[in-house]
Amino acid sequence: MNYLCRLAGAGMFAVSALASAQTPYADDEVYRGLGGKQGITRIVDALFEITLADPRIRDTFDGFDIPVVKERLAEQICEFAGGPCKYTGKYKNRDMKTVHEDLKLNNLHFNALAEDLQIALERNHVPSRVSNQLLAKLAPMQRDIVTAGGGAPQAKPDHGKLIATGGVTAVEGSAGGGIVPWALIAGYGTRDSWGASAFATRVATQDYSLVSYGAAIGIGDRVEISLARQDFEGELAPLDQLRIKQDIAGIKLRVVGDAVYEQDHWTPQIAIGLQHKKNKGVGGLGALGVTSVTQLGAKSASGTDFYVSATKILLEQSLLLNATLRSTRANQMGLLGFGGDRQGSRRLMPEFSVGYLLTRKLVLGAEYRRKPHNLGVDNEKAYKDIFLAWLPNRHFSLTAAYADLGTITIFNPKTQRGLYLSAQTGF
Ligand code: HEM
Repeated sequence: MNYLCRLAGAGMFAVSALASAQTPYADDEVYRGLGGKQGITRIVDALFEITLADPRIRDTFDGFDIPVVKERLAEQICEFAGGPCKYTGKYKNRDMKTVHEDLKLNNLHFNALAEDLQIALERNHVPSRVSNQLLAKLAPMQRDIVTAGGGAPQAKPDHGKLIATGGVTAVEGSAGGGIVPWALIAGYGTRDSWGASAFATRVATQDYSLVSYGAAIGIGDRVEISLARQDFEGELAPLDQLRIKQDIAGIKLRVVGDAVYEQDHWTPQIAIGLQHKKNKGVGGLGALGVTSVTQLGAKSASGTDFYVSATKILLEQSLLLNATLRSTRANQMGLLGFGGDRQGSRRLMPEFSVGYLLTRKLVLGAEYRRKPHNLGVDNEKAYKDIFLAWLPNRHFSLTAAYADLGTITIFNPKTQRGLYLSAQTGF
């Protein structure tokens, strides 16, 4: 109930925030944050310096009157930021579709300009919170400005998504946070291309360690296919020889919405997914005659989790929110099998993540994942963590977290807590 209340609260907050998107700010906080008219002129100058050297988009500007475009863009930014300006564009009324449609721009172009603007804002020492507020106004223009692409994904990866918008990789191999899958699709490919990522994660608590590694591919920013292996070990006698392995194959489909562009809508990006898990048996308990999770009370050694995830990036608040609902029979994610002597049927389990975008490359957050309690020998509890993800570029990211995995067996009542470290590479 507590969780539902918290979720409802976050939802109300999101709806009221989004109701104000796409219109200029009532006060001039963002305008002041950008440094007023002079600051905006400096930002637009820096933007064009970067853009006209950016091989992704520089050719698009060939033959246009750059000083005029800069002046109009500065007016538009000033107006959006709540400053004392009016956009006086030649097409009037901010009709961005008319201005850009002959340019045949795709998402890669749009994101490249957005990224160049982020860099220009950083160079001018604009606080990340203010940059995100400005981007929240510009992001919905994607619908008017992007008129090309959207066909079959091309063979060449385009690295076109903005940094951090592919998430990191959760311990079961899907794009998400550390322990919760999100609706984001793995890799940096836009809808016109594809991308991929590979990860390795280690969670070490007082008495156990979990190593997880794998890879995922994201196609057309729509479909994600992932493979992961988990290797769980006991570190404390009498379970110091314990070793359990599990393989996980996942598929995710983005059904609706866009977590980044739809800043003027309350609707999140929604994806459905499944994770098929195959437990490879129990090692190190041969002396007790235990070689399979079924001997610990599990109903079976393999199972499939189904989930639906909703992810929203609220740029105005620099927040990422995710809620996932999982239908599962898994014990400790499947490491202790599926179903058990206490209960064997599927149950719906909520999972939440919240992240604060400290900068465009640094996210501080927390996660919560509820789990069923099926096995008599396992006092299964929720997983929780607080994390810091650092994404310096599209090819590398590092996530550190402090994780609480609850108790793992009734034979060891200690709450298992420890450091979670994950490295990810991709494109
Ligand atoms: C949120 C994103 C964008 C905003 C707010 C924006 C805004 C503007 C504005 C205000 C103008 C001046 C129009 C006028 O003269 O009245 C303009 C023109 C132009 N923009 Fe954009 N733009 C965006 C994205 C892009 C992208 C992604 C590209 C290409 C990569 C691009 C290329 C151009 C070009 C070439 C012109 C000159 C067009 C002309 O004068 O006919 N824009 N844009």
